[in-house]
This record gives sequence, C-alpha cells and structure tokens, in this order.
Amino acid sequence: MKDSFVLRGGIAFSEDKDRITTYYRGYLVCQDGKCMGAFPTLPDEYKELQLYDYGERLIIPGMTDLHVHAPQYTFRGIGMDEELLEWLNTYTFPEEAKYADIEYAKKAYSYFTEDLIRCFTTRAVVFATLHNEATINLMDQLEATGLITYVGKVNMDRNGGDGLQEDDAASSIAATVEWLDKISGKYSNTMPILTPRFIPSCSDELMKGLGELSAERNLRIQSHLSENPSEVAWVKDLVPASTTYANAYEIFDNMGTAERPTIMAHCVYSNDEEMEILKKHGAYVAHCADSNMNLSSGIAPIKRFLDYGINVGLGTDVAAGSSLNMVKTMLITLQASKMYYRLIDNNVKPLTFEEVFYLATEGGGSYFGNVGSFKPGYDFDAVVVDDSKMFSMRDMSIRERIERMCYNDADVIIKDKYVKGKKIYTRIE
Ligand code: GUN
Ligand code: FE
Repeated sequence: MKDSFVLRGGIAFSEDKDRITTYYRGYLVCQDGKCMGAFPTLPDEYKELQLYDYGERLIIPGMTDLHVHAPQYTFRGIGMDEELLEWLNTYTFPEEAKYADIEYAKKAYSYFTEDLIRCFTTRAVVFATLHNEATINLMDQLEATGLITYVGKVNMDRNGGDGLQEDDAASSIAATVEWLDKISGKYSNTMPILTPRFIPSCSDELMKGLGELSAERNLRIQSHLSENPSEVAWVKDLVPASTTYANAYEIFDNMGTAERPTIMAHCVYSNDEEMEILKKHGAYVAHCADSNMNLSSGIAPIKRFLDYGINVGLGTDVAAGSSLNMVKTMLITLQASKMYYRLIDNNVKPLTFEEVFYLATEGGGSYFGNVGSFKPGYDFDAVVVDDSKMFSMRDMSIRERIERMCYNDADVIIKDKYVKGKKIYTRIE
C-alpha cells in the first residue's frame, strides 16, 4: 500500500489541549497517508509494514503556522524599533512593492520556501503580495515542497503608499478573479485564500466585494484584527458604523462561517464583544506572540479565548515575527502568557506547556481538518527530532524532552519531516 509504514521512536502528541500522550520507543502507524494511531507495542495487523526505527529520537506532529508573510521573510529581524503602522510604511510596504518584479520575487520566495521545508512547519497559511504573477510563482514553489498551504494574493486599494496599492475596488476584485482563474485546478497541496490585508488597506467597496466572492466561490478569508491601539482607533474612524473592529469585518461579510472559517491574526485588543463575534463565526485566532512583542503591540489574552471556546492556532507572522521556527513561537507564547498573568490580569492563568503544544500542532492544524495529532484517522504529518546533543545527567521522560526542546532549541536537529505520509524533507548530515 502506498505511503504505509511504521515509525518507531519517542512519540508525543496532544490527546486534547490539556493532555499530551507519550510513548518511549513507541510505534506510529501510517496507512495510505493517514495515522492509524500510536502504540506502546505494535499491533499484529501492522507487523507486515515496513518499520523505520528512529531509536532515541522524538517523533511529534507537524506544526501549523497559521499566519506568515512570505514576501517579508528576507528582511526578518531588522527595523524592529517601530510600532505597526510606522513599520508597515517604512519597511514592509516598500519591500512588498518590489514583488512587481517577477525575478526579484522568484529569488526571494525561493529563500522562504527552502527554509520553510526545514523547520517544524508542515502546514501554513501564507500572505503573498498584491501581485498576481509573483503570488502564482510562490504557489508553484510551495507546491513543489510537499507542504500543504493556503496562499493569498493580498488585496489593498488604499493607504499602501507608492507602488503598493491597486487602483480601486473593481480592479482589485478583477485581479483576484484573474488570479483564481489562472490557478484553478493547478495544485493539489496549495489552496487560494482571500486576503484583504486589513481594514485600513481596503475600501468598504473592496471589503464588500471580497465578502461576496468568498460566499460565491466558497473561499476562506484571512486578515488582521485588533493588533495595535493606533490601528484599532483608525479603523473606528474608517468604519464609523462599526461597534468593534471585528464588527467592521462582519459588516462586510468577511468574518466567514464554521464551514469556511476566517483567520484573524493577532486579536490583542479583542474585547468581550469581539470574542463573541469570533466565536459566533467559528473564526480562528492566529496568535503571533513574537510579532506582538517585536512591534510593542501587546499580549493577546489567549487563555480567555480558549476558555471561551474560540479556535486558536499560532502564527510566526514573519517578518514582524523574526523567525519561521514554530518551537521558538511556542516559547514566546508561553512567556507572553506568563507576563499577561503577572502584569495585566492575574485572574487569567498562564498557558500551560500542554496548551501551547496543542496550539502549535492540533490547534492550528484543525484549520486543515484532522491534522496535528497522532490520533487514529489524522493526516500523517510528523517531524522527527534529534535532541541527543542536549546532554543531561539523568534520563528524561518524553514529556520533559519536548518541554526542554521548546525552552532551548539550540541543539535540536530536525531529522525528517512527513506530510500525509510522504517524506518531504530529510536532513543531509
Ligand atoms: N497589518 C497589516 N499588514 C500587516 C503586516 O504585514 N504585518 C502585521 N504584523 N500586521 C499587519
Ligand atoms: Fe501579519
């Protein structure tokens, strides 16, 4: 049978957001690209399958980066002394304008895709730029990796400055339809997603047009929500009829449905009303703690969102976040939630390691279906990790080793990566 085998090693996966199941030298069964489960001893029915023994290495579910900007990758880690709106105008928009040049885009996107293959990520939801040709090239490159992604051609018809703005709503919609038509049927692992950048970048008419397109063509939407205080105030001016920022998206039918959930990055300043809107629409919050620290945006109350029953995953938000490393993102998520508890609201307990491991794997993975765990019936997305260079004076449990990997990943090596049972990456020693 195709893509059917057994892996052996130190297995860890979320049972639910409060429980991580582990097996020391356990067995993980893949049949036809699906996980049949993880076992302490191999059931007889799978004994005929090819077994790959990873020894003492760890095997964890692939991670989902629920929010990342591919064209910003090459300037990650610089210009980080600004807040959001100044950062966009000074660094981001001028850089994204360069993607009008397809040769520039091809090269820059190759740096992004090559590094995305090598990190913990197996699934990602990606912003491109407003340029169709460059966006299609990014999709071509991502398709070739074997990663599973959603990619959005960005819509923006106002406040983009020189060279990063479409003429008006009609031409932005027309370009979007042209992009969708060009890629229709072209890929098996790369899906389009509608991408109004955020309310300040999109006129009312454009937002309305995208809401209609989403419903007509059954397309999902991604955007940004309540990231920074100046941004939130600006949105209130731009859409005076809105009761909250989320309501502004709702007015234009951009908040989606449970069947085609919208992803909203950040939600740092989401109040109770905004939480209710997110929940009602089955939206996903892409929590981007690294970005929120770097741009002095704030700390999103993720524990509250979880308690309220809102879908949450983690995003790197490169380049406001400075790394594609989801394990580093997990660490900053933990640290941010501890500071939220200590400094902002001591009624909101810090996130646990169990919760953050869940968010990085199944929390974001669920956006793609049964993804991000090793429970039976899940897509077989797995990352094999070698932590043998992290010396310790005693034997560690699997649970301790994945926590240690999160708090200090300097000596952690990603060995192999599988997506739907296909090995898409192996480290050359
Ligand atoms: N809001 C609108 N555009 C962006 C962007 O590119 N990055 C971040 N972090 N926030 C945004
Ligand atoms: Fe972003």
